[in-house]
Amino acid sequence: MEKGIIGLASDHAGYALKQYVKEYLDRHQMPYRDYGCFSEESCDYPDFAHQLAEGIEKGECQQGIGICGTGEGVSMTLNKHANIRAGLCWAPEIAEMTRKHNDANILVMPGRFIDNETAEAIMDKFFNTEFEGGRHIRRINKIPLP
Ligand code: RB5
Repeated sequence: MEKGIIGLASDHAGYALKQYVKEYLDRHQMPYRDYGCFSEESCDYPDFAHQLAEGIEKGECQQGIGICGTGEGVSMTLNKHANIRAGLCWAPEIAEMTRKHNDANILVMPGRFIDNETAEAIMDKFFNTEFEGGRHIRRINKIPLP
């Protein structure tokens, strides 16, 4: 999978895991762009999730990682954007399937419910699994509303 630049977004509840994600990306020499937030001060996840989605739409980054406490709010926000397929993953097997079947372009993780080791295994699968294509192309093409 062509990784390109990876956009990052979190709220305060995802900030700590986002810091760990940056360590992971540095270790793997994967370039990233951080759309915030930039501290653990309470904030609103849509403010940063929309910036990440817009970054992909503008071509500033090619894939993304979004994190909030549960992953739900960031996931709901990202998936409002027509060309975003954000997959909420709490286990590596789900990350593998959302790449194979959904061609997810953003990985969403629940910062308050997984540890760093699990996040690392999830990212390993997400960034090293190809879209299977075939019948799944027809299905993902049916996701956007006209
Ligand atoms: C923040 O308290 C929390 O609501 C947020 O991180 C997220 O879990 C929302 O979906």
